[in-house]
Amino acid sequence: MPSLWNAGRIERPASEAEVLAAESVDVAVVGAGLTGLVTAVLLARSGKNVVVLEARRVGDGTTGNTTGKVSLLQGTKLSRIRAKHSAQTVRDYVTGNREGLSWLLHYCESHGLSTQTEDAYTYAQSAKGLDDADAEFRAAREAGLPVSWTTDADVPFPFHGGTRLPDQAQLDPLPVLDSLITELEKHGGRLLQGARVESVSGFGPVRLKVNVRSHSDRHVTVRAEHCVLATGIPILDRGGFFARVVPERSYCLAFEVPGEITRPMFLSADAPTRSVRYARSADGTEHLIVGGAGHTVGRGGDERTGLDELAQWTQRYFPGATQTHLWSAQDYSPADELPYVGPILPGADGILVATGFDKWGMTNAVAAALALSGRVLGGNMPWVGVFASWSPHELAGIGAALKANLEVGFHLARGWATPRLGRDRPADGEAEVSGPPWRLHADSSVGGVQHSVSAVCPHLGGVLNWNEVDLAWECPLHGSRFGPDGRLLEGPATSDLAPR
Ligand SMILES: Cc1cc2nc3c(=O)[nH]c(=O)nc-3n(C[C@H](O)[C@H](O)[C@H](O)COP(=O)(O)OP(=O)(O)OC[C@H]3O[C@@H](n4cnc5c(N)ncnc54)[C@H](O)[C@@H]3O)c2cc1C
Ligand code: FES
Repeated sequence: MPSLWNAGRIERPASEAEVLAAESVDVAVVGAGLTGLVTAVLLARSGKNVVVLEARRVGDGTTGNTTGKVSLLQGTKLSRIRAKHSAQTVRDYVTGNREGLSWLLHYCESHGLSTQTEDAYTYAQSAKGLDDADAEFRAAREAGLPVSWTTDADVPFPFHGGTRLPDQAQLDPLPVLDSLITELEKHGGRLLQGARVESVSGFGPVRLKVNVRSHSDRHVTVRAEHCVLATGIPILDRGGFFARVVPERSYCLAFEVPGEITRPMFLSADAPTRSVRYARSADGTEHLIVGGAGHTVGRGGDERTGLDELAQWTQRYFPGATQTHLWSAQDYSPADELPYVGPILPGADGILVATGFDKWGMTNAVAAALALSGRVLGGNMPWVGVFASWSPHELAGIGAALKANLEVGFHLARGWATPRLGRDRPADGEAEVSGPPWRLHADSSVGGVQHSVSAVCPHLGGVLNWNEVDLAWECPLHGSRFGPDGRLLEGPATSDLAPR
């Protein structure tokens, strides 16, 4: 299901010869989302020999499926950080995000990329959301943001009051990624698509084992002084980041709407989440984008119900709205509310990671890229401490991390305990896990084609669940996802599901 942004994109996977030509580089960046490409451009600008290895196509990750709000008011993020950390930590987080926002908007302006300046709101849809919206107002004001409280907004949907931050921005992420690729190549850097990194050995120099899809899954080794894992969640288990973040998936719907579309960007403080913005295409067409129906990856249960509610909500408050696109994506919520950016293990600067953007990566990814490139090039910024991958601030997240990992344990046990022994042929669009524990099958039927693959996640053995909206297998442990044919889509796993 392509997003409004990446619909119709065709990209060419790299040939084996192209990967071989990148055999020895200064920096290998893994992942061509916003984090990876900004990092690569910053390093290439400084004369580093950089290759970006992308497992799929540019835009297939979260950046190509984002809502694209570029804002320092981030739902209830600041008050959630404040609940666990000092006022100074929130200020540093805002400063890092402000640097990211400024860099991105300046980049767009200087490269002729369209953005729209709009106000951002964190709002209460009902009286029960007022406390959270107010807490955000207080945290944002304490952090020095010029927020105001308003009980009145010119919107067609329920609004009980909210925090407003003027002059934030929104964009289409794909032209930004395209422009970054052009600049990377101008500085001698290379992007290789269809090149999945399966493992990284050593700590600097490092050796990356790359699976080249266009050549019958041949493997090529790339050597680099530094490796930046900009893969959403880090693909390596060293550092245990899979146990420090929770993968959260949510859904976006785009609509054509008769008449005026709400201009500011809205995000509800109370459940169910309602995210609203408009989008303007190059030809001047406008869409309303509505987001929500989120769940932890692999634990959605009945995804269709949440999505239907979201569509009905839109039809109710924007009469005549016609749905044109549906897509979904996931991002990673950190246990202590702060992103993890830096060495994969303390002192191991050969392998750097960036994760935990909590659905606010438009600014955090760029801040991470600034921090990582500074780390490689020897620069420093006063705010980078709050983004550190290893830091005492993580102690504030121990409770949340323990809870998250208890839930992982529960889902691991439940997955192995519940499959049926008997095996039925699933109806179209449906799927089932069955079989004895030593040979669990994941059977599905999509578009009239029956698929049968292993039901066990190759990462750490989670038993997969079916996402009936995305028609994909999802691991309830750390968020790896696979197509019905077993092909790896995303997550910490690095290999496909075995055929059955
Ligand atoms: C539904 C949704 C809405 C969002 N809306 C907003 C918003 O409005 N504003 C905002 O600020 N943030 C938003 N975010 C968050 C933001 O989009 C992300 O934080 C950001 O795009 C992450 O960028 P990234 O480069 O780190 O990851 P990605 O864009 O996911 O890039 C990672 C790349 O790594 C590749 N990769 C993975 N494994 C390998 C491997 N082994 N080898 C090679 N390549 C690999 C992937 O294919 C992918 O292309 C949203 C997130 C979601 C889920
Ligand atoms: S993603 Fe870790 S076990 Fe599946």
